[in-house]
Amino acid sequence: MEYLIGLDIGTSGTKTVLFDTQGNTVASATEEYPLYQPQNGWAEQDPEDWWNAAVKTISQVLSLSGVQPQQVKGVGLSGQMHGLVMLDEAGQVLRRSIIWCDQRTASQCEEITRLVGAKRLIELTANPVLTGFTAPKILWVREHEPEVYAKCRHILLPKDYIRYRLTGQFATDVSDASGMSLLDVPNRCWSMEILKKLQIDPSMLAKVYESCEYTGSITGECAALTGLAEGTPVAAGAGDNAAAAVGTGVVKEGRAFTTIGTSGVVFAHTDSPVIDPEGRVHTFCCAVPGCWHMMGVTQGAGLSLKWLRDNFCAPECQTAQQLGVDPYVVMDSEAAQVPIGAGKLLFLPYLMGERTPHLDPDCRGAFFGISAIHNRPNFIRAVLEGVSYSLRDCLEILRGMKVNPNEMFACGGGATSPLWRQMLCDLFGCPVKTVTSKEGPALGAAILAGVCAGVYESVEEGCRQAIRLGQEQAPIAENTDAYEPFYQLYRSLYPSLKGAYGALARL
Ligand code: XUL
Repeated sequence: MEYLIGLDIGTSGTKTVLFDTQGNTVASATEEYPLYQPQNGWAEQDPEDWWNAAVKTISQVLSLSGVQPQQVKGVGLSGQMHGLVMLDEAGQVLRRSIIWCDQRTASQCEEITRLVGAKRLIELTANPVLTGFTAPKILWVREHEPEVYAKCRHILLPKDYIRYRLTGQFATDVSDASGMSLLDVPNRCWSMEILKKLQIDPSMLAKVYESCEYTGSITGECAALTGLAEGTPVAAGAGDNAAAAVGTGVVKEGRAFTTIGTSGVVFAHTDSPVIDPEGRVHTFCCAVPGCWHMMGVTQGAGLSLKWLRDNFCAPECQTAQQLGVDPYVVMDSEAAQVPIGAGKLLFLPYLMGERTPHLDPDCRGAFFGISAIHNRPNFIRAVLEGVSYSLRDCLEILRGMKVNPNEMFACGGGATSPLWRQMLCDLFGCPVKTVTSKEGPALGAAILAGVCAGVYESVEEGCRQAIRLGQEQAPIAENTDAYEPFYQLYRSLYPSLKGAYGALARL
């Protein structure tokens, strides 16, 4: 038998999954780590935590499964996008990674837009520069921590740092590199023009590959640490959303998926780079060679529910412990008892600012309509609904740009909730499908590793072999009608609050 490993370096933890070549999970292990928020709107993680989690979970899946290391034909990487990892000459990490949801770089974004020109930036990178993207973070470090920047010799994205530790190679892939504001997205290579205008030395950047290409092999040192065989090939892999697309079979035009992880994303595959001139949705290279995708991003999707759980839902966590189930299962069943509209309670999920549709690092979360009648279940339902309204915003923009997918899939932790999936169906007004594997990005990364190792002929062929359709839910017309006035009211709230958000940020 042959096996493949997919690693997903997520925000809440790293998940490593060992699959057979039919996409069945043979063993899976997850290791969580902290998110540091040194200031309001800042978000950092320690790359050493990612590495320790990778080593531990790889060792665990190998020992749990009893699979011989030589039977693992390839390793694929997926990970949270946009995070900045800086290494010195000796390959040592110079500071904590500033990750995707960090919002500190508004002035660096303005500077980049001024230096490159707003129109030229969109021509080259297919997107405006956003606070979460990598280039403004590089400029922030150069400006605020010049001593760190002076020592920096290598700039990597989160999963590419793990690759460096696994193989000793500095490499990235087109999908993840698309989120740095340094890649020429239509031409799938670094933009020398932007690098020159921003005075970033191109030698600091990793070599760019297509997602299924070979980037290096497991070193002897890493083999000793993890139990993998020395020489096992490591594929370029993809950013978490592009990898989830592969793991859900969204690899051709007309297909789209919605994922609810820490962030929430509505992602549509496109055969050509379609650009939103207003920059509300991103256009990135996807993991299928020569193709692209468009996606809208809700910064705080699962993050909002996790925040509610950790700060306010101790009773639900306690009940869950007694029942031996996940706290989210208890929270879900409480929310299911509350009618649509959460008893006239609305939630804006902007805890970490927002990208789609508002492109505003200063906005923050809000509950609107709190009454003395409300209890925790109302708040839980309001959070689930608010995130779903935000995902509907993402889809509306794609539809407005005539990217009108005819098949919508759901994946990510949040989409394991039938209640949340039904909200998406009702709000999107279309059926939402699932695939049987729940491993989205890790499965996608493993399929890419399979193509790299010659197990599959192409990404599409890997998807045909490893992905099977799961449940499908249909919209319920009366629910769609019931949500509509709440959704319209939700849409009116951000414009009413915009000025106050600016004032709050300036306090
Ligand atoms: C995408 C994005 C997030 C992260 C974390 O642009 O920032 O989806 O990849 O999951």
